Amino acid sequence: MGRAVTAAVFPVAGRATRFLPATKASPKEMLPIVDKPLIQYAVEEAIAAGATKLVFVTGASKRAIEDHFDSDPELEHALRVSGKDAQLKSIQSIVPPGVDCIYIRQGDPLGLGHAVLRARSAIGDEPFFVHLADDLIAGEPGCLQQMADEHAKHGGSVIAVETVELESTSSYGIVAVDETDNDRVTQIVEKPRAEDAPSNSAVVGRYLLLPEIFDKLESVGRGAGGEIQLTDGIAALLDESPVHAYSFSGVRYDCGSKMGYLQATVAFGLEHPDTRDRFRAHLKSVLAE
Ligand code: G1P
Repeated sequence: MGRAVTAAVFPVAGRATRFLPATKASPKEMLPIVDKPLIQYAVEEAIAAGATKLVFVTGASKRAIEDHFDSDPELEHALRVSGKDAQLKSIQSIVPPGVDCIYIRQGDPLGLGHAVLRARSAIGDEPFFVHLADDLIAGEPGCLQQMADEHAKHGGSVIAVETVELESTSSYGIVAVDETDNDRVTQIVEKPRAEDAPSNSAVVGRYLLLPEIFDKLESVGRGAGGEIQLTDGIAALLDESPVHAYSFSGVRYDCGSKMGYLQATVAFGLEHPDTRDRFRAHLKSVLAE
């Protein structure tokens, strides 16, 4: 029913005040979980879901992201002559052949909706993913693939949701859904207080959107926090085009918070083949103290 999704937008212009001073001169998206930066996990999830066009909406002091996804002949040569084949492979395979990276500067930091709108000319008239790299989701298949499967079944836009504590609604977009209609979203509100929230079902950083969203974003104006909100663009779409809330399977780590970042590091450290056994033993000994 739905169309194949081959484009993904990564809004990466935002400055992370919650991680200062670490993010003063380097992008929060380059913070590593074990040995890969958050933005690489994001790109891998999108490529695994079929994306071949990666659009980064970027800003000041985010050059490291472009460098990360570009080839580095000098480093490759150095690794080759010193026989470091595994390391060489790890940097050569970051973006596979046939996948294009496009970088667009956001300009004024007017919010997530504005960032997505800046990708309009690169996306054109296709459905596309939006991936917020702060939200790291461990799951197999990846969250975007699960959403693409959902879109293939029911069509329409798909947004990933997760139940949160009622006192946390003011940190998320919150949805109300019609459970009798494949969880079609009937209402979406940006960061409501608990007493105003239509539910405790929160939007996490994964969206599969139809290009109709762009016209809505052009006209929504500034919303919560004085920003052009993606949530408001989606709200404007609800009457015209179905948007489904999708409860993904997997574990989400809010890597925009110190606690979520540490939890992700522990979880991925316990899975990574280079670290898992010694790290498990280390954690056990630390906890036994
Ligand atoms: C953004 C969206 C919000 C969503 C959240 C998910 O907020 O505006 O609707 O729930 O991402 O991470 P931000 O976290 O950028 O403030």
